[in-house]
Amino acid sequence: MIEAPRDDREAAALAYDVALVRADFPGLNQQIHDKPLCYLDNAATAQKPQAVLDAIAHAYTWDCANVHRGVHVLSVRATQAQEAARESARRFLGAGHADEVLFTGGTTAGINLVAQTWGRANLGAGDEILITWMEHHSNIVPWQLLCQQTGARLVVAEVDDEGRLRLDDFERKLSPRTKLVSVVHISNALGTINPVAEIVAMAQAVGARVLVDGAQSAPHGGVDVRALGCDFFACSGHKIYGPTGIGLLYGKAELLAEMPPWMGGGDMIETVSFEGTTFARPPARFEAGTPHIAGAIGLGAALEYVMARGPQAIAAHERALHAYGVDALGEVPGLRLIGPRTDNGGVLSFVLDGVHPHDAGTVLDHEGIAVRVGHHCTQPLMKRFGVPATIRASLAMYSTRDDVDRLAQGLRKVVEFFA
Ligand code: ALA
Repeated sequence: MIEAPRDDREAAALAYDVALVRADFPGLNQQIHDKPLCYLDNAATAQKPQAVLDAIAHAYTWDCANVHRGVHVLSVRATQAQEAARESARRFLGAGHADEVLFTGGTTAGINLVAQTWGRANLGAGDEILITWMEHHSNIVPWQLLCQQTGARLVVAEVDDEGRLRLDDFERKLSPRTKLVSVVHISNALGTINPVAEIVAMAQAVGARVLVDGAQSAPHGGVDVRALGCDFFACSGHKIYGPTGIGLLYGKAELLAEMPPWMGGGDMIETVSFEGTTFARPPARFEAGTPHIAGAIGLGAALEYVMARGPQAIAAHERALHAYGVDALGEVPGLRLIGPRTDNGGVLSFVLDGVHPHDAGTVLDHEGIAVRVGHHCTQPLMKRFGVPATIRASLAMYSTRDDVDRLAQGLRKVVEFFA
């Protein structure tokens, strides 16, 4: 007898046909060390569907021209395709207007842009930037640089032993001195999902602006920047099945309008003379130089692909698989999971007694299994858990129970090998 689904998420997961999804990703269908690839390094970067590969090839083959600069047909087509991608991004992010969506080089570039434009214009000595212990280096170092430049101070909210943000500590560290809260939506190292809407409300109550690092959340459940209420949202193309070297920065229109430019060059100006230059309105003001046109077009295709498959269905599939993974890995001797076991954005991060993560990663690779081993660009978080590194398996829309079973089998081999 088939039991009725417990909730909408479970229903979506049951309706989700992962075999159909996998067929769209040619890179999954290959042998590594004579074994079928088991790709579980999706938090580092995701594989690309054929639709993205086709869009990039089409852009370079048939519409290869610069944007916003030519009157000829190829330039018009390239411009239209890039701006159509911006509109896809607007829909994907839930932004009110496409002018609130900037193309960047990725999450890191987006965060640095906010630091160097909004940050330098709005922060000074005595002001504070509040982040958390679970931030990726790209949501730590740009603020440290900004603090050196402005005299502002970086304040860090603690995480608990499960890897969740301690909201009590976060609230205690918020004050009228807090000018910016910059917080990861889903931790790349642990999968922790932060209660961003609640964080935004708390921060805005003391007059702080909020940047959300969405590198890991954008691929795992969809985003609605207006529902979150955040001021900025940064994400990367390559983690959401799009190209590397391209990303998105959402900023509220009124904030972008008052932000000074950062990088100067072509396309970001209104008029240039040796007496002085005036600047274009956003988004062009922040997109100096020839952009990553094919990257933007490829990203647009990736976002359309994800929207067609359904971000909620993808998230439901991944959550169900994560729960399966927690059980499967729980049976591997000497394995200790680090990070939330439930309500997790698709990351299984763990250590094995007596085995260095790099050794485990090498043995797994020989089994055709790709995971990331290391500190995941979150050295303070590793320190918080008293480990130099973890083994991290990260799930995607095309991951399967078979992938998880192979990981568990591979880990048993690792344990036997080093026993
Ligand atoms: N931030 C990427 C990761 O988590 C590279 O692996």
